[in-house]
Amino acid sequence: MELLGVIGNPIGHSLSPVMHSAAFKAVGRSALYLPFLVEADQLSQAIYGAQALGFTGLNITVPYKEKVLPYLTELTDEAEAVQSVNTIKFTEDRIIGHSTDGEGFMAAAEYELGYDFRGKTVLIVGAGGAAKAVTAALLNKQCQVYITNRTLERAEQLVHSLNRFGTQLEVVPLNSAALEPVMDEIEVVVNTTSVGMAQNLGQTPLAPSLLAPHQLVIDIIYNPEKTQLLKAAEQIGCRVQNGVGMLVWQAVKAWEFWWGITPPAEIMYQAVKASLS
Ligand code: ATR
Repeated sequence: MELLGVIGNPIGHSLSPVMHSAAFKAVGRSALYLPFLVEADQLSQAIYGAQALGFTGLNITVPYKEKVLPYLTELTDEAEAVQSVNTIKFTEDRIIGHSTDGEGFMAAAEYELGYDFRGKTVLIVGAGGAAKAVTAALLNKQCQVYITNRTLERAEQLVHSLNRFGTQLEVVPLNSAALEPVMDEIEVVVNTTSVGMAQNLGQTPLAPSLLAPHQLVIDIIYNPEKTQLLKAAEQIGCRVQNGVGMLVWQAVKAWEFWWGITPPAEIMYQAVKASLS
């Protein structure tokens, strides 16, 4: 029996165990995937312990995606670009860190909407880890990306850390006066902030009056299923997508990294939706 799991704090809300377990069952894979609550001062023991116990791999979630870097023997190009790891693979003598967040984001829109991001102009709201992963993936598809964030310096830091992409990336202050002139150009709006989740349900990360019907609006939040931003966007006539797809597809991409096989995404969607409802 293969062993896998997800490390985070808190971890009780994680949907990864049900998603992976459903897929193991569907394909008849003999593997066990468990959630592990790990304290910050025991992160290295958890990683090395999993290696010693013969784990196949781990997922890493909030707040350890960056903190885990010192314990890895190598990073894939994707993880290197964003200095963040959500998937680990153990081999005989190596601990390899990878990031499937950006790939998962792109794959979800391709799968659910048939959307091709190549060359599109995108506005990212937020400048945290999720914003960075999504932005790096978009830049790889030759997108023009604008970053807006409550804390402007953080958006500037994000641009600086991805500056090898040069002029494809610009910062815009998060206020209507600054955003209005660029909104005509924007084809996709992506919320990567936590605004719209339970603690600030009913709020939107940017004024809905900025949106236009030609835009695709993606919120990476999956609980609630439809944030206030998505509800407002839908009323305006925009196409919308929530965060369930990114959650599922980062997991699909983790299987591809661990085993080189693609799991049944539809089974994973069903497992997530059943847990959320
Ligand atoms: P993650 O790694 O999931 O992206 P994070 O690094 O904590 O999480 O980033 C959270 C993002 O949500 C940030 O862009 C944050 O804005 P600041 O950089 O100004 O903190 C944004 N965010 C969180 N709460 C917010 C709020 N109430 N209003 C606006 N932005 C908010």
